[in-house]
Amino acid sequence: MSRLLIRGGHCVRPDGVTQENILIEDGRFLDFDPPATVHTDDVIDASGKHVFPGLIDDQVHFREPGLTHKEDLRTGSMAAAKGGVTAFMEMPNTSPNTTSAGALSAKLARAKRSCVVDYGFFAGATGENTAWLREETRACGIKIFIGSSTGDLLVDEQEALEEIFAQTCLPIAAHCEDETLVRANAVALDGGRVISDHSKIRNAEAAAKSAARTIDLARRHKHRFHLLHVSSAAECDVLRERPEWVTAEACPHHLFFDTTDYARLGSRVQMNPALKSPEDREAVWAALHDGTIELLATDHAPHTLEEKDQPYPGSPSGLPSIEWLLPLMIDAASDGRCTFEQIAAWGAANPAKVWDLKGKGGLKPGLDADFSIVDTEAESKVQDGSQVTKCNWSPWHGSTLRGMVCSTWVRGLRAYHEGQFADPGSGQPLQYERGEA
Ligand code: DOR
Repeated sequence: MSRLLIRGGHCVRPDGVTQENILIEDGRFLDFDPPATVHTDDVIDASGKHVFPGLIDDQVHFREPGLTHKEDLRTGSMAAAKGGVTAFMEMPNTSPNTTSAGALSAKLARAKRSCVVDYGFFAGATGENTAWLREETRACGIKIFIGSSTGDLLVDEQEALEEIFAQTCLPIAAHCEDETLVRANAVALDGGRVISDHSKIRNAEAAAKSAARTIDLARRHKHRFHLLHVSSAAECDVLRERPEWVTAEACPHHLFFDTTDYARLGSRVQMNPALKSPEDREAVWAALHDGTIELLATDHAPHTLEEKDQPYPGSPSGLPSIEWLLPLMIDAASDGRCTFEQIAAWGAANPAKVWDLKGKGGLKPGLDADFSIVDTEAESKVQDGSQVTKCNWSPWHGSTLRGMVCSTWVRGLRAYHEGQFADPGSGQPLQYERGEA
C-alpha cells in the first residue's frame, strides 16, 4: 500500500472549486481533507495551485503504426500529459487502419510499451467488417468516416451504414461531412485553388446534412452515437432535435479559430471539418454552454510543416493541439469564455460518462487519481521547434497562454513534471462499463 498526499491545492470539480488536501492510496483517490494525523509516504505541495481532473480526450490521431514521421504513441501520449490529458482515445486511420482484431491487438501491444497516459482505441468501420465490429469488446467505440478525410476510410452507402447501426453494440462516433456535397463543391471550385476554398468545399451545409442523416440512423436503430468535431451553427441546430442517446463534442480549433484566420495562418488551420465563420464559432461556444455539446476533444492530427506547406489542395488537413489543451481552456476562462468548473465537466466528467469509462472522470473518492497541478497565473509560451509533439509546430506559435501545467498524474503516478516524462509503458488500457447499446 502506498499513500500520497497532495496538499493545499484548489480542487476543480464541475460543481465548484475548493481548497482541499487530497489523499491517494494505490493510485486512487481515497479521501479529500483527511484527518491531519493520517499516515502518508509522500507529500506534494500544491498550495497556490489548482488541481484539475485529468482530461479525457476522445479524439486523437497518434499515427502509429505507419505514419510515425508525424507522431507516435510515445510522443503523442507525452504531449497529452503536458496538456493535462490523462487518457486518450485514438482514431483508426493509421497504416494499416485499425479495422481488424489483429490491427487492434497490435495497437494495444504498442501502446502498452509506449504510452505515458491511459489509452483506448477505436475500431474503424469499412462497410465490410461488421462481423468483427459486432464481436469486438476491447475497442472504446466504432469510428465511421461518413465523409472522407485523411486516409482511405469512408463508409457512405446507406445500406452499409444501416447494417453497422443495426448489428453492432459499441457506441459509434462519426466524422460527418456529406461526401456528395463536398465533392460537388470541390468540382464547382475547380478542386479548390486557395486555402479559403477549403471552407467553401467543406461547408456548414455538408456538415449539418451528414449530422442529420447520422442522427436519423441513431434514432431509428436506438444506437448510441457521438458526433465528432462540431464546427457550425447548423449542426448545433440539428443536435437540438436529437434523441438523448446522441452526444457531441467541440474541438479547440473550432473554438479558437474561424475563416478569418486563414489570412494569418494558411494551411496551418486547414482541417476537416473546415473552419467556419465567426458566427459559427460563437454558436459552437454557445452550444457548449447550453449543454447541446457535452464535451471537449482535440482531434489532435499532426502533419509535418513540410507536408502542410504544400500548396492547397495538396496540403493535408489536421493540426496538433493536445499539448496545449488545458492552458488553452484556462486562458479562455481568464478571458471569461468559460469557467474552471466547465473545463472539469467538458474535459473530464462528461467524456467519462459518454464513453462509460470505469474509474475515470474527476476528483472523487474511489476514482483513479488522474489530475494535473496547474499554476493558473503563470504563462505558457507556445513556440514552434520546442514542442513535444513530433511534428514540432503549433497553430498557436507565438502566443502566450495564461495557465501552465506543472505536473500531470495518472493513477497516482507522475506522468509529466516540468518538462520530464514518466518512462514509456506507464499508461494502461481504459476499462469500460458498458450499458445497453
Ligand atoms: O483534419 C483532420 N485531420 N480531420 C480528420 O478527420 C482526420 C485528421 C487526420 O487524421 O489528419
